[in-house]
Order: sequence, then structure tokens, then C-alpha cells
Amino acid sequence: MEQTLVMIKPDGVKRHLIGTIMQRFEQKGLTLVGAKLVLMSNEKAMIHYIDHREKPFYQDLVSFITSGPVFMMVWQGEDVVKIARLMIGEVDPLRMIPGTIRGDFTSHLSLNVIHGSDSLHNAEREIALHFDASELIE
Ligand code: PPS
Repeated sequence: MEQTLVMIKPDGVKRHLIGTIMQRFEQKGLTLVGAKLVLMSNEKAMIHYIDHREKPFYQDLVSFITSGPVFMMVWQGEDVVKIARLMIGEVDPLRMIPGTIRGDFTSHLSLNVIHGSDSLHNAEREIALHFDASELIE
């Protein structure tokens, strides 16, 4: 069964959105197999966002994600990578559709509350980066 990494970013944690967001994934019928509150290290943040290392916002993104606790989750289900991305919504504030998590909880480009793996390959990479096998209950 497919798994994906979903992370509530420091802005979402500060705004006490963890419970509200988890409820959406549970209501959708997805299965939680791991979760934890962490302060991500600079080194892990740089690896997490390695695909964007050439982007002008890379350092800002790394600084932001390490600026406070994040809530890491691994969700499991059929096609869960794509389903989670649909639930999360777009990065561009003008394309954050109401009903999606970003569409309902933010209108800001970088303070965008939540991250979800963008492919099955990155889901496997990100889960291995942030979780030990012993932390996942399948
Ligand atoms: S891109 O340019 O299409 O590759 O960007 P995208 O895939 O949409 O986003 C990659 C991650 O970078 C975040 N992002 C930004 N952060 C800060 N400033 C700017 N301008 C910016 N643009 C995109 C975006 O939220 C993605 O991070 P995650 O954690 O996956 O949401």
C-alpha cells in the first residue's frame, strides 16, 4: 500500500492547526502509520528540499522550515501521494482553491501551512529521511 509524508509547517503548528488538519485526512479514509512533532535540523532541511537547491527561495525555505516545530505524519492508502496533494492544494495563492487545506487556511505564498510529497519516489525518500522503520506502524 502506498505511503506519503505530510508535514504541518511551523506556521501551521503555531496556529494550532494540527488537529484540524489531521481530522481531514482521517475523514478522507486514509490511515495514519506514524506521527511526531520535531524541530528539523538544518542538514535534514537541506536534504528534504534538495530538488529545489537551485531555486532563489531555497535558503528562505530551509530557514523557514527550521524556524519552529513541524508535525510530521506518514499516511497510507491507495494513491495516497496524489490524494494528499489534491487535499493540500496549490502553492500559488491565486490557485489555492477553497476546500483544499491551503485554500481554507492561508493566502500566503511561503507561509503555506503544509507540505506533501510530490511523487512516490520523493515520498519514499522523505519518509526514510524523517522516520526510522520502528516509528511506523503498518
Ligand atoms: S517550483 O518552483 O514549481 O518548483 O516550486 P513548487 O514545487 O511549487 O514549490 C517547491 C517548494 O517551495 C515552496 N515555495 C516557496 N517557498 C518560499 N518562497 C517562494 N517563492 C516559494 N515558491 C515555492 C513551496 O511551498 C514548496 O514547498 P513545500 O514544502 O513542498 O510546500
